[in-house]
Amino acid sequence: MLEIKDAVAVITGGAGGIGEELAKYWVRQGGKVVLGDISAEGLSRVEGEIKAIGGAVATMVCDTTTEEDCGRLADLAMEKFGGINLVAPAAGIIRDGLMVAPDRETGKVIKKMALQQFQDVIHINLTGVFLTVRECAERMINHGCRGLICLFSSTGSLGTAGQINYSSTKAAMSVMPKVITAEFFRRGLADKIRCVAIAPGYVATPMVKGMDQKALGKILGEVPIGRLVEPSEVASLIGELYRNEALAGETFFIHGGLRLGSRG
Ligand SMILES: NC(=O)c1ccc[n+]([C@@H]2O[C@H](COP(=O)([O-])OP(=O)(O)OC[C@H]3O[C@@H](n4cnc5c(N)ncnc54)[C@H](O)[C@@H]3O)[C@@H](O)[C@H]2O)c1
Repeated sequence: MLEIKDAVAVITGGAGGIGEELAKYWVRQGGKVVLGDISAEGLSRVEGEIKAIGGAVATMVCDTTTEEDCGRLADLAMEKFGGINLVAPAAGIIRDGLMVAPDRETGKVIKKMALQQFQDVIHINLTGVFLTVRECAERMINHGCRGLICLFSSTGSLGTAGQINYSSTKAAMSVMPKVITAEFFRRGLADKIRCVAIAPGYVATPMVKGMDQKALGKILGEVPIGRLVEPSEVASLIGELYRNEALAGETFFIHGGLRLGSRG
């Protein structure tokens, strides 16, 4: 079992939502956090709140789609706290829309998902995660750090209408732990650095709570526990995945029993 006390977590998307909640959970358990986000304002708010509870925190404004920023974020963790034990690349976006939208009356396509709309999601949710994980893993290996890489998949990884961009990136997040675990196994590293993914359903972050209330009500009708998953419940799952060293290469769902299928 690993201890969170004194362990260093690098969290992207740390200025809000699940990343923020994970950062606060981590310092409450005695860990230290390095937070990266594009939102300078959000980072400074979260940094202040963490310091107010006596937590050890370093922050950096970064865009995870750039190699330089991801390298600098990993360097910050090494310089400030001397290691990296948890990598949690939570930075992500949604840009929903149908791939092709035929008119209900004429049956002819009147709208298509723009290339930009597709690529923006791929860049942040896939390339950004690859870069964050690659840069952190390099330093973890070179400095003999022990710990976990925890990726953020989603129930959308099973395929959700209107999310061909997002669902594709989240399916990738479910396969990456297998690839990374296999690669580390080949080099005798898999017992030191594990990789898993979590796949949340609908989590009570500002993004989801701000949804159209009618649509949200319909979604909740599909959730057996009858409510959104709390970000603190997601953070607690990541804590358990970190501690339990038998967990590797797998995706762990946390969705309150959501009825899965093509609707996600
Ligand atoms: N909220 C949910 O219901 C839910 C469900 C399943 C999976 N997830 C996944 O969990 C992760 C966190 O989601 P969330 O709900 O907390 O999202 P959120 O929108 O609340 O927070 C995402 C954060 O990422 C930051 N960000 C965006 N682009 C960035 C970039 N290029 N570089 C650095 N930071 C960037 C944003 O500024 C924001 O602070 C995402 O990967 C998301 O896909 C969320």
